[in-house]
Amino acid sequence: MCGIIGYVGHQEAAPILLDGLERMEYRGYDSAGIAVRTIDGLQVKKSKGRLQVLSDMVRGGADLPGTLGIGHTRWATHGEPNDINAHPHVSEGGNIALVHNGIIENYMELKDYLMSKGVKFTSETDSEVVAQLLEFHYNECHDILEAVGRVLRRIEGSYALGIISSDMPDALIAARKDSPLILGYGADGNYIASDVTAVIKYTREVAYMDDGEIAVITPDGINVFTSEMDPVEKEHKTVDWDVSAAEKGGYPHFMFKEIMEQPDAIRRTVFPRIRDGRVVLDDITITKEYLDSVTKVFIVACGSSYHVGMVSKYNWERLLRRPVEVALASEFRYSDPLVDENSLVIIISQSGETLDTMAAMREAKRRGGRILAIVNVVGSSIAREADDVLYTWAGPEIAVATTKAYSTQLALMDLVGLYLADLEGTVSAEEYAAVVEELQLLPEKMEKVLEKKEDIQYFASRYFNHNSVFFIGRNLDYAMGMEGSLKLKEISYIHSEAYASGELKHGTISLVESGTLVVGLGTYVPLFDKAMSNVVEVKARGAEVLAVTVESMKEKMEKNADAIVAVPDTHLVVQPSLGIVPLQLFSYYVALMRGCDIDKPRNLAKSVTVE
Ligand code: AGP
Repeated sequence: MCGIIGYVGHQEAAPILLDGLERMEYRGYDSAGIAVRTIDGLQVKKSKGRLQVLSDMVRGGADLPGTLGIGHTRWATHGEPNDINAHPHVSEGGNIALVHNGIIENYMELKDYLMSKGVKFTSETDSEVVAQLLEFHYNECHDILEAVGRVLRRIEGSYALGIISSDMPDALIAARKDSPLILGYGADGNYIASDVTAVIKYTREVAYMDDGEIAVITPDGINVFTSEMDPVEKEHKTVDWDVSAAEKGGYPHFMFKEIMEQPDAIRRTVFPRIRDGRVVLDDITITKEYLDSVTKVFIVACGSSYHVGMVSKYNWERLLRRPVEVALASEFRYSDPLVDENSLVIIISQSGETLDTMAAMREAKRRGGRILAIVNVVGSSIAREADDVLYTWAGPEIAVATTKAYSTQLALMDLVGLYLADLEGTVSAEEYAAVVEELQLLPEKMEKVLEKKEDIQYFASRYFNHNSVFFIGRNLDYAMGMEGSLKLKEISYIHSEAYASGELKHGTISLVESGTLVVGLGTYVPLFDKAMSNVVEVKARGAEVLAVTVESMKEKMEKNADAIVAVPDTHLVVQPSLGIVPLQLFSYYVALMRGCDIDKPRNLAKSVTVE
C-alpha cells in the first residue's frame, strides 16, 4: 500500500531515494518523506501531497547530503494524510528513523504502554509506535539489532520496515512480515525496496525477503537473519525486464501505455505456452489422476482479478463441465470456506501481495486445498507460497487501474481451462483447436480494436459528462461488464454498475430515465437476441445506448444503439478479451476529459496490502 526504499553506499542517498519513490508513487501518493544520515545526524523531511512537493522542498535531494537513507510514499491507514503522519517516523530521542508498510494491529496497547513510561507521541499512526518502541528497547540494551529483535517479538500485524539510526553510521536494517520487501545488490551500494521498479535503474540483482527475516544492509553487503538471528543464505535473482518497461516512454499516461501494450503482453504470456497446437504448462504439475480426485474448484481474488474469475467461471464450466465457485477473497477468508484436500483453489493476483487474497490463500491451504496461483509479479508472496504458480508476463504494471494484467490473466485462465478440460476429456478436439487458434490470433485482433481508439475517444467526448452509467449484458458480457464498470468508476469517479441484462426488470430498470447512459454489451453471440431485447427495453425508457458488439452483429445492433463499437469475432471463450479493450479505452478517455488523475486515482493505491 505504501512504498519503501532504502539505500546505503558510496553515492548520495537522497536523489536515489527520491527517484525510487517516484517509481513507486503508484503504491501510495498522499504524502512522502525521506530521512538521511548527514554529518549533523539524522535529517528528516516529509510532506503531505505528491512526491514533487517533497522533491522541491529538498531541492532534488541537494539539501540532505549523506550516503545512507530511507524513503516512503504513503497511502494513509492510521491518521489522515498530513505532514506529521507522513513517514519516516522519528523516535522521541531523535536517534532512530523508520519507514513502515503494513498495519501494526496491537499499536494502541503498545502506545498506552509507552505513554505510561513517559514516551511522547507526535503522530496518529501505528508506525510511530514501532519507532518509539525501538528506541525504548535500544535504551535498555544499547544494541540496535537486539532492540529490533525485541520489537519484532512484541508487534502484531504486518510490516515491511526500513530503519536507520544515528548510532549506526554505515548500515540500515530491514525486516518483513506479510508485506513485500526486496533487497537490491548494486555496484555502488545496496538497497531495500517494496518493489523491484524502485531499484531497477541501479541494479538487476535482487533477493526477496521472507516473513520473519531481518536484514542488515551496508555499502559492501547484505546479511540476512531469521527471527532467531540465525544467518540465512539468500538466493539472488536477476530481473530480466528493462528499466524502460516501468517508464511512460512518450505516452501521456501509464494506463494508456499499458492498454496499448496488451497485444505484446498476450504474446509473451500465451505464445510460449502453445506448442504444435497444444497447451503446454511446464510450470504446473497437475495430472489427470489428481484432477479426478478434485471435487471442488474455487477461484479466489479481488477487484479486477476477481472479474477475471467471473469470466473464467463461465468459460471453465463450459469447458470442464463441472461447477466452479468464484469468491471475493475478502469474503472467502471469513466464510468458513468449504475447502478440503479435494479442492483445487485458483488464486489470481497481479501484484501477488494483495492482503485479502493472500489471507484467503493461506486459509484454503490450511484446509488442505491445493493452490494454483496466477500472478504477474515474480517472487511475490502469493507466488512463493502457492503450490503451483503460472506467471502472466504482462511486465510491470504501474497505472493503478489494471489493463494489461487483466488481459493476460484472462488469456492465461483460458489456457489453464483448456489444459484441464483436455486432461478431463471434456472438450472436443474441434473446440480445443478453435480456442487455441483464436488465442494465437488474439494479439492481432486486439491491435485492430486499438486502431479504433479515435472512434472511442469521440464517444467519450459525447458521454463524459454523464453521472450514472449502466453496463448491461448476459453471460460472458455480464462478467466483462463488471470490469468495464470498475474501470470507469475507479478513474473517472462516475457512478456505474454492471448488471445482468435479464435482471434489470427485477428492480434496477426503475433508475433508467431519459438520458441515462447504458453501455449495452452484445459480444456474446449465443444470447445476442436476448441482450438486444434488453437494449430495446432501456431505449424505450429514454436511455442513451453505447453498444459494444462483434462485427458479425454490428448491423443488427445499429438499429437500436446510439453509438456502436464493433470488435472482431473470435471464439466465444476468447471474446471478452477483445470486448474489454473498448471499455478500457472509453474509461481512459472519459477520465481524461473530466480532468482526472488517471494513473493515480483518488483514495486508491496499486497494491492493497491492508485489510
Ligand atoms: C483494478 O483496476 C484495481 N487495481 C484492483 O481492483 C485490483 O485488481 C485488485 O486490488 C486486486 O489486485 P491484485 O490483482 O494485485 O491482487
